[in-house]
Amino acid sequence: MCGIIGYTGSGARSVAPILVRGLGRLEYRGYDSAGIAVQTEDRIDTRKLAGRVPDLQALIARQPAPGFCGIAHTRWATHGPPTTRNAHPHADCGERLALVHNGIIENADALRAALERAGHTFRTETDTETLAHLIEDAPGDTLEARVITALEDVVGTYGLAVISADDPQKIVVARQGSPVLLGIGDGEYFVASDAAAILEYTRSIVHLDDGDIAVLTPGGYHVIDRESHVLLREVNDVTWDLEAIELNGYAHFMQKEISEQPETVRATLRGRLVFDEGVARLNGLNLTPADCAAIRHITIVACGTSWHSGLVGRHILESLTQIPVTVEYASEYRYRRPIPLPGTLTIAISQSGETADTLEAMRAARALGSRVIGLVNVVGSTIARECDGGIYLHAGPEIGVASTKAFTSQIVALALLGVYLGRERGLSLEQRQDIVCGLAQLPALVARALALEPEIKLLAQEFAEVRNALYLGRGVNFPVALEGALKLKEISYIHAEGYPAAEMKHGPIALIDDEMPVVFVAPHDEVYPKVVSNMQEVKARGGRIVAITTEGNGDLGTLVRHQLRVPQTVPLLSPIITVIPLQLLAYHIAVLRGCDVDRPRNLAKSVTVE
Ligand code: G6P
Repeated sequence: MCGIIGYTGSGARSVAPILVRGLGRLEYRGYDSAGIAVQTEDRIDTRKLAGRVPDLQALIARQPAPGFCGIAHTRWATHGPPTTRNAHPHADCGERLALVHNGIIENADALRAALERAGHTFRTETDTETLAHLIEDAPGDTLEARVITALEDVVGTYGLAVISADDPQKIVVARQGSPVLLGIGDGEYFVASDAAAILEYTRSIVHLDDGDIAVLTPGGYHVIDRESHVLLREVNDVTWDLEAIELNGYAHFMQKEISEQPETVRATLRGRLVFDEGVARLNGLNLTPADCAAIRHITIVACGTSWHSGLVGRHILESLTQIPVTVEYASEYRYRRPIPLPGTLTIAISQSGETADTLEAMRAARALGSRVIGLVNVVGSTIARECDGGIYLHAGPEIGVASTKAFTSQIVALALLGVYLGRERGLSLEQRQDIVCGLAQLPALVARALALEPEIKLLAQEFAEVRNALYLGRGVNFPVALEGALKLKEISYIHAEGYPAAEMKHGPIALIDDEMPVVFVAPHDEVYPKVVSNMQEVKARGGRIVAITTEGNGDLGTLVRHQLRVPQTVPLLSPIITVIPLQLLAYHIAVLRGCDVDRPRNLAKSVTVE
């Protein structure tokens, strides 16, 4: 979704190249237009367009915007179509100030009507423009005072950066419900919606909290509240390297992230397994044995791929802890008026830690008295900071919009949690050691599954032109079927559905003919013979079957068109292996179809609006 970067410095470097490079680093979030505003001696120069960051760069090359302080934005349209006019930054009537905004101003229509009645002229259809006119009219000696006053009238969410021609070299930042952080350099300061935008210049970052206002000048920065009291905010170091957000020879981030999985799975496990005791060390959970004993019910809230890992997690947690688990779409949970159940532990799963629906579902659960833990990848993200405890995935930045390595690391984290809680709930040493050893072997097994890539590339050629596909699985591998279908539709725009294999008879079987590819996720487990029967049903109707199966299973040669054999693991952990060929298949089909794999149309990496 929308991205923000801003910079102020004492004059050693020009701002425009820094802003454009930063926007380039934010491209992965998904956007449709981009722009910058730079303070010159006595005015603000804005360059913006509907299009990509390289187009913006070319525009700036033709019409330079010199200066040392500025703000920039990539927009993912919500209010008003993705046109040049609607691209940020937005200005007030006199074009004395410019601002960029992530989030949604919920009372924009009412504010706009009042501002128009007061004589303001709007140039765009965006909700954001109301902020510029509100600040224009707001009283105050300084830009920050005016911003604070203007925000009193605003209902909604924002991560906001404002510059004014009358307050040289200053950026005012405000946060309410939309992530924004500061970057601390030497005589230069940054604001960004995401550390990736500024990592090339500084590793020192300050996460802002809701309600914070920050003021940046080349001489320093400070954070204040709405009464102008100075607040102390911790400076943190980004722990990953620039390399993690570069392609390093791969054609796409998605391909890089799929390939990284032996290492990312290892990173999620690092330092957390104790073999002889069969336990998982999870210090960040903040759960005492008494807390564990008090859990009666687990609710998982998540969206998208994280919801799929939650479905896998239900099998793992119920099996290891004997605690009933429900898995909810975060967006549905929060409006469903869930009934409070005493002893509920809520688990929020989110790669980004910023998904608005998951964050709000977690807040709703907490309001009902539940303890909340987060399974989050991005360190310092809002969900990570608001939960009572959690497990960081440590999978490194995930740039490809279609989530891959986060999914496998989320399942690893859920299995660690299962072992942790299981120990407190009577899971035997032998059972725990079985999972712990299974987890330890995963990085090598994932690497073996990745070795199927040449075979999958050939298979992709056969399926690149199909219009529909069906993915089927059972038990713990039913969510893998959902995830395989999601990957295909997200990046190749082929309609794909995931279904429980046996449920197929109650509807989707009507779709099967000799055109229809049917992908079965069928590792060696207790439901395998049943899944083979489901394959017979598809074969009898001419469907083109691809089976993801395990090395221990018999030959399916007479039944299926293609079989991809992945290594065997503990059945509960099998989704971490069976999903790998599905990720690769979706990737190679999308590449063959000429799709923009890392920036699929209409999708955003981090969905920070409801
Ligand atoms: C977006 C992304 C998905 C992701 C989902 C949840 O839709 O495109 O890949 O699974 O958000 O994101 P989260 O960061 O909460 O895991």
